[in-house]
Amino acid sequence: MLFKALMNGPNSTHPDRNRRKLYGRRKGPKLSGRQADLRQTLLAELAWRVGEDPFSQFPNTVQEIWLEVGFGAGEHLVWQATHHPHVGLIGAEPYEMGVAKLLTKLEETPLNTVRIHEGDGRDIIEALPDSSLGRFFLLFPDPWPKTRHHKRRFLQMEMLDQLARVLKPGAELRFATDDKSYLPYALERLMAHPAFEWLAEGPSDWKTRHLDWPPTRYETKAIKGPPTFLRFRRRTRLSS
Ligand SMILES: C[S@@+](CC[C@H](N)C(=O)[O-])C[C@H]1O[C@@H](n2cnc3c(N)ncnc32)[C@H](O)[C@@H]1O
Repeated sequence: MLFKALMNGPNSTHPDRNRRKLYGRRKGPKLSGRQADLRQTLLAELAWRVGEDPFSQFPNTVQEIWLEVGFGAGEHLVWQATHHPHVGLIGAEPYEMGVAKLLTKLEETPLNTVRIHEGDGRDIIEALPDSSLGRFFLLFPDPWPKTRHHKRRFLQMEMLDQLARVLKPGAELRFATDDKSYLPYALERLMAHPAFEWLAEGPSDWKTRHLDWPPTRYETKAIKGPPTFLRFRRRTRLSS
């Protein structure tokens, strides 16, 4: 019902379970000397150690761990870490210049609850223990609009299986897009997945950002159309 209201009609793509490699660029403009130094120093200090115990990688004041995949230049990640001091924020981003921009922000405003993976978000998710995340963000992921490229999209059924495993019961999954074809693609998969329920009662829930959801850099600078904001909850019980 809500899906039809949002999409104004049915849509009929199917889940794609093909494994894929990471697409998208890692290298961009040359880093400045300062940025290159920060990679050697601050990134080495804050690097997420994939596969190691999650809580042991944060200060012991951290009570919950959240993950943002594709943080861009890190504005949203820094906002969340600043506003939620008892949360450990892991950010994954393969784009070197994006990581460099986050490092510059963290040099100006140190936050010891942020950890960075310069690479594919799937590396982290696949290695996390069950029920270890309190929240997951995928904000304006690369849209891959051509049908033959849809398998490159981050949000696949197999990824939702993994997220259902690593998210705690009751944990939130947040997704945003301005892409007209990624929206039905994501919604169909999220709504078909037994572990997730949509936290929407009406259009204002997907047309406006939640109170503790600041705009991202993409949203303020590069947006192509009206954005949609989705909040899903990891169900506490799964029907057999
Ligand atoms: C359109 S940008 C949006 C960036 C940011 N979320 C924002 O809204 O400003 C998508 C980002 O996702 C990153 N990305 C793509 N595939 C990824 C993956 N498998 N893991 C982590 N990040 C990824 C890209 O490098 C890019 O920075």
